[in-house]
Amino acid sequence: MRTIQTLVAVLLLSMVLVPGGASAQDVPEEPTFANHIAPILYESCVNCHRPGQIAPMSLMTYQEARPWARSIKNKVETRAMPPWHLDRRIGVQEFLNDPSLTDAQIATIAKWVDNGAPQGNPADTPAPPEFAPADAWQIGEPDLVVQFPTYTVPAAGPDLFGNLFTEFGLEEDRYITAIQTRPVGDRARQVVHHALSYAVEEDENGESMGGGTFLVEYASGKQAEVYPEGSGLRLPADSQARLSYHLHSVGEDIDAVVELGINFLPVGAEPEHIRYSKQLGGSQGQTIGVLDIPSGEVARSDGYARFNKAARITMFQPHMHMLGTYQCIEFIYPTQPVRAETVNCAGFDYNWHMNYNYAEDTTPLIPAGTILHVSSWLDNSASNRGNVDPSNWAGDGQRTIDEMAFAWIGWYDLTDEEYEAEVAARQQQRADNDN
Ligand code: HEC
Repeated sequence: MRTIQTLVAVLLLSMVLVPGGASAQDVPEEPTFANHIAPILYESCVNCHRPGQIAPMSLMTYQEARPWARSIKNKVETRAMPPWHLDRRIGVQEFLNDPSLTDAQIATIAKWVDNGAPQGNPADTPAPPEFAPADAWQIGEPDLVVQFPTYTVPAAGPDLFGNLFTEFGLEEDRYITAIQTRPVGDRARQVVHHALSYAVEEDENGESMGGGTFLVEYASGKQAEVYPEGSGLRLPADSQARLSYHLHSVGEDIDAVVELGINFLPVGAEPEHIRYSKQLGGSQGQTIGVLDIPSGEVARSDGYARFNKAARITMFQPHMHMLGTYQCIEFIYPTQPVRAETVNCAGFDYNWHMNYNYAEDTTPLIPAGTILHVSSWLDNSASNRGNVDPSNWAGDGQRTIDEMAFAWIGWYDLTDEEYEAEVAARQQQRADNDN
């Protein structure tokens, strides 16, 4: 009981207030591209906004950025760029992969634009960052590379969705420490919009069992997943790799080849913690539940999942389809009186598959018996830009035009002793920080 009260206190403490306006001294009087803007773009934008990447234009040079000045101001002030759809008003705000600009950076950009977007002295421009080749392995030379069958994407046509399969060829179970999806070559990268990889186990008749365990997503600049130190994801012997793809045409026939690169713990080694990543909290407790979204209306779907063991939550990623607009995750603790806490909410846009990796010091720790509650909002009205046909009823299904509503949750189990120790350590750390 004591522990659980402590835990709730720990979580509440992790709610960070959004900082107020930027203080005047952080914003230069006369910001120039060379001295103030280029460093921001190099740090936060050009990983996508450079030739050959997913963004529509390059922001590497003054000449390239200048015509976009007003639009840049607008996109950063509304925090549409860099993309990060987490609701900043609610819950945990510290993440390993938060690309957001500071208020002072946003104010600097706004002032620069309002002053006519001057270049300053070109010689002051810092050297642009160097990037590894776009198809380099970010996880080092992988222990295993598997290639999916080639898919020829025609020059023109509708978006393509489906599955490709290949063998991992493993003789024994192994534990994945890092994994990356890699379209092979510049042209393949242009046609692969988005791809999810799964490990599918077969039953004794060689039939695949369900959709499999989710491994890694390739979307919007995201390719690699490196699991936290001491944790690993089990890849069962004899499982098959499934690639669930979304490909699109780019004006000429392109052979799309996609590879998975994987690093493992040594043969026979088991991780301290097995990392899970599962689809949880679909409506009615299922991934595909009973969604009922009348034409023109906004529907809310609720789903629940019980954690039978204590856990350390590492990642949250909303999943819906075209109609999805917003999702919240809440934990209902096994206490009396019962306590519930909204841990995070995030906006949703089907073109962006954003995952939120919790920072070490504030990642949620939950006791055994905690219930996850996922609420998802789906907007079937004409005001939802993602809605192709507001005159149709929508329900569950596998097609992109059908709906889904669940959260990907990454976690690893803790024993009750490990849980108590982690909570105590965190409290100690907080007390130290306060002194
Ligand atoms: C993760 C990749 C990514 C990052 C990081 C990113 N962008 Fe973008 N940006 C995109 C993509 C893709 C689009 C086009 C689709 C969209 O608007 O969602 C875009 C669109 C834009 C647009 C609108 C272009 C138009 O056609 O009107 C502006 C302006 C922009 N970005 C500026 C920025 C700035 C400034 C930063 C950094 C502070 C930034 N972006 C960071 C990927 C990114």
